[in-house]
Amino acid sequence: MTPLVVGNWKMHGGPATSVKLARELVSGLDPQRLTTQIVVAPPFTDLLEVKKCLTTSIALAAQNCHCEDSGAFTGEISPAMLAEIDCGFVIIGHSERRHLFSETNELIEKKLSAVLRHRMRPILCIGETLQERKNGETEKVITQQLDSVLKQLSEDAIGCIEFAYEPVWAIGTGMNASIEQIRDAHALIRRLLNGYCGEAGAREIRIVYGGSVKPENAALIAGVDGVSGLLVGGASLSAESFLKIARAFSH
Ligand code: PGA
Repeated sequence: MTPLVVGNWKMHGGPATSVKLARELVSGLDPQRLTTQIVVAPPFTDLLEVKKCLTTSIALAAQNCHCEDSGAFTGEISPAMLAEIDCGFVIIGHSERRHLFSETNELIEKKLSAVLRHRMRPILCIGETLQERKNGETEKVITQQLDSVLKQLSEDAIGCIEFAYEPVWAIGTGMNASIEQIRDAHALIRRLLNGYCGEAGAREIRIVYGGSVKPENAALIAGVDGVSGLLVGGASLSAESFLKIARAFSH
């Protein structure tokens, strides 16, 4: 399967900065030698401008969306709006949304279904907090996060989801999860997906790792069994470091 490398720009930039970064990415990529699928997720206000300067080698993602197509939801952006501008992916359930904006598994399920309904690919983020890991609850938390979303969906729909294992304590902290922790969590997610889609179906599904991925650790993490891509926050704000990370899978 083609590895997926996503740059989550979070609330950084603005149209001018985002366009500059997108142009640097485009000019730094050699499409002939590209072995990964690259996706960038700029802030909402920058999506259209960034889209104009992307080539087919880089796809566009939104960082979030509402679960309804339209209505009196001041300040929200709907999946229909994102589909209309040809956004290919939407990040759903990022830990910052779960923890800073109180998004529940129930809400995340609604958003994910809405994204699928509009034929975009959700990038579903799951992962435990430090306290949950210390309490030995990692498996329970990940299982709940997946079950609450997947139990309503058909095998075909699940096959359209990109899964991102992002331990909350590793995001933006400079402290990436260890090789063993990543391997175990990805194996657990794969096992749970087997239960929903059967082994053959689950084998086609990408599970990416996110949390303090840097050019220095990208190749090591990319080589972990079961890792089919990377979700990058801070290090995606520089074209040079993001491109180095994207190349971690080309060998
Ligand atoms: P980070 O963020 O790479 O800055 O840790 C990852 C993420 O939030 O997806």
